[in-house]
Amino acid sequence: MIYREFGKTGFKCSVIGMGTYYDPLWILGAKFFGLKKGEKKHTDAVTAGLDAGINLIDTAELYGTEKLVSQSISGRKRDEIFIATKVFFNHLRYDSVVKACDRSLRNMGTSYIDLYQIHFPSKRVKIDETMRAMEKLVDDGKIRHIGISNFNLQRTKEAQAAMKKYEIVSTQMPYNLSRREFEKDLLPYCRENRIAVLPYYPLGHGKLIDRNSWPQDLLNGMLEKYRIKNTAQIALNWLITKSDLIFPIPRASSRDHVLDNAAAADWVIDAEDVVKLETAFPV
Ligand SMILES: NC(=O)c1ccc[n+]([C@@H]2O[C@H](COP(=O)([O-])OP(=O)(O)OC[C@H]3O[C@@H](n4cnc5c(N)ncnc54)[C@H](OP(=O)(O)O)[C@@H]3O)[C@@H](O)[C@H]2O)c1
Repeated sequence: MIYREFGKTGFKCSVIGMGTYYDPLWILGAKFFGLKKGEKKHTDAVTAGLDAGINLIDTAELYGTEKLVSQSISGRKRDEIFIATKVFFNHLRYDSVVKACDRSLRNMGTSYIDLYQIHFPSKRVKIDETMRAMEKLVDDGKIRHIGISNFNLQRTKEAQAAMKKYEIVSTQMPYNLSRREFEKDLLPYCRENRIAVLPYYPLGHGKLIDRNSWPQDLLNGMLEKYRIKNTAQIALNWLITKSDLIFPIPRASSRDHVLDNAAAADWVIDAEDVVKLETAFPV
């Protein structure tokens, strides 16, 4: 595994992380009926990822997986794991942010969250109010760093301008080989400001897994040349090559997939293959 500093945090995160958004049915089942389909399989997957050297886990109050994260990290050294969770857009008033954070801390059985992210911007609550609460949470030691998610460039700048003491350390946006709008203005801004990037849908929400959606000659040539197993490993390796600020968070729902994904950092893609891939998947 390769580890890189997560933006300006000083923490060395594995370049491959683990996402824990399963699906809307999982969320509804967990929220209203306490049902957690495949919970053991998912905790085994996260545990296998940790054993393979992944130390970055992404969750959210929305996903209903914070308790699952807590179970998966049980017995491990807390300070060796970087936990990112998110406050949902209906909890962005000052008091609601603080309450949501306290709930997430309880769910995860931890005294601090490494990265607390605003899941979506709000049209109703001013970003200044939300950021005031986020900064208070840092001051109180409940969170270490503040991140954003689904903020376009303008909103990102507004969010940064609303902060008085701290800086935004990361952003989350959809970004993968076949979806690259992020490269237009947000990636350059992140580079300028050393903001870490957690690309979500790094495997196109599963679409990039399908071998038939790849140019066959290029795919077969790369699988053979790099002695790798599958399309997921190429899609993830391409992402981590784009910048040392990029930490993809593919979903961790089965042990085998997590181990494949962890191995995606074990090889280095040639510059000429990067060009071939980007030509094959035009923006
Ligand atoms: N900030 C936001 O608004 C936002 C939105 C969406 C997602 N996210 C975060 O981003 C994470 C990733 O997004 P995502 O889960 O939607 O999409 P994704 O990671 O791009 O794709 C997930 C799909 O890829 C499959 N997969 C993963 N590794 C594989 C492998 N090695 N071989 C074959 N198939 C593999 C998964 O199957 P299995 O499930 O069978 O492994 C699943 O069907 C989420 O879990 C969440 O943490 C954030």
